[in-house]
Amino acid sequence: MSKQVKIFDTTLRDGEQALAASLNQKEKLQIALMLERLGVDIIEAGFPVSSPGDFESVRLIAREIKNATVCGLSRALEKDIDACGQSLSVAEQFRIHTFIATSDIHVDTKLKKSQDEVVEMAVKAIKHARKYTNDVEFSCEDAGRTHIDYLCRMVESAINAGATTVNIPDTVGYTTPTEFGGIIKNLFNRVPNIDKATISVHCHNDLGLAVANSLAAVEQGARQVECTVNGIGERAGNCSLEEIAMILQTRYGLLGLDTNIKSQEISKASKLVSNLCNMPVQSNKAIVGANAFSHSSGIHQDGVLKGQNTYEIMTPESVGINKNNLNLTSRSGRHVIKHRLGELGYQQDEYNLDAIYESFLKLADKKGQVFDYDLEALLFFDQQKHDHAHYKLEHLQAQSGRNIIPSATVQLSVGGESKTESAIGNGPVDAAYNAIMRVLEGHTIDIVDFKLDSKGEGADALAQVSVVAEYNGRRFNGIGLATDIVESGVRALIFVLNNTHLADQIDEQKQQVKVSGV
Ligand code: KIV
Ligand code: ZN
Repeated sequence: MSKQVKIFDTTLRDGEQALAASLNQKEKLQIALMLERLGVDIIEAGFPVSSPGDFESVRLIAREIKNATVCGLSRALEKDIDACGQSLSVAEQFRIHTFIATSDIHVDTKLKKSQDEVVEMAVKAIKHARKYTNDVEFSCEDAGRTHIDYLCRMVESAINAGATTVNIPDTVGYTTPTEFGGIIKNLFNRVPNIDKATISVHCHNDLGLAVANSLAAVEQGARQVECTVNGIGERAGNCSLEEIAMILQTRYGLLGLDTNIKSQEISKASKLVSNLCNMPVQSNKAIVGANAFSHSSGIHQDGVLKGQNTYEIMTPESVGINKNNLNLTSRSGRHVIKHRLGELGYQQDEYNLDAIYESFLKLADKKGQVFDYDLEALLFFDQQKHDHAHYKLEHLQAQSGRNIIPSATVQLSVGGESKTESAIGNGPVDAAYNAIMRVLEGHTIDIVDFKLDSKGEGADALAQVSVVAEYNGRRFNGIGLATDIVESGVRALIFVLNNTHLADQIDEQKQQVKVSGV
């Protein structure tokens, strides 16, 4: 049996479907390119039939990704499979992933079909998908709660119909490692054509067992693991990519299994997904949490100083965390910044050095010393900047304190025209938001979530604000970064406004295409 475990990433599908606001096309592409650099074998880019936006993003990712297989999800329905085939056809290599539920609970209650009918639908869907590609994956949704006899029958039929990968999801995160490993073992013992396909697993984390269950399956012969960066996904999430990849790498001596993951890219990928998805990573999260490599107790610190392996089973460098011994201040030249970004794993074609250096100098003037996390935050914001922003912040003044009514004046450039408004509010951010709403004159936008996070350490840390807002029935994300909390909040709202403006422009273009009948 092969010693290679394929990593199938579903951050952009299972992960994305669980977010408060969907990612835009540019953000999805950024994540896909990061996954490619990370060495993921298969990138599930979306569910093309679910919306025209998803269809377009899958198509864009399919066009840009060269070193991974791009995959789209479909129900076991012809129209879903056709949408996958059409959106993916521009890819170098692509896979169609089709699924249907197999547990009694789902078959009887949700599908209201007989078991025979469900097998028939699966077989028909797989055969239809094979008209587009030889790389077809079939998933038995809720396999974890499916009777083993029926699961064996379904897997055998799927392989006979042409599925080259058969995925066994624990959709509701219900099984335990021994039980889930047992299901995989049973399949290998009982399905006669099992050697004709790769067996994959897709575990959810409702009981915190997604990684353990995936590992148990791999130990029984599964050779593809479906996972997401930071473990994001439906409800409690999916198997975490960084955890399963680092288990296989760190315990290679025990397990003897390889992946193509370039582990030094893990930290970068985790930060990118956390920032874009507006999903903070808990500080004690394995591998990528802020404390994953910090030692607090005196005994541990003493041990690590004497020998790193006393309390570290893997090095921070192996997941891309490099400690800085350069002192970055406003006297640091641009080559030092470029050098440090290189050490942190960023290639020069990933950022605009002039823009980063300008922001770096402004920040260094305010903070004195600039740390790695500051530099990475500047880089992230540079990458997210709207190239031709419709809304720009020109001036901001806010007042607050004890026994005064908070007030703010905001001057925005709206499509090149300066507009200024003032307002009061129940705090300086609220006052600034009220002033911006006045500038917008009837452009109704509702703030549904506002999160303030400190990027770095100490009272002079950068403040990052993430906002989710509703506009025309859709949700948009915005992020802002500044040393000043009010400015950061205002920048996050302006980010949202530029996203809504972009969405309006895209809708308008689509409308024009429809009217002119193209
Ligand atoms: O959890 C699940 O069962 C899924 C399938 C579509 C693979 O996400
Ligand atoms: Zn899932």
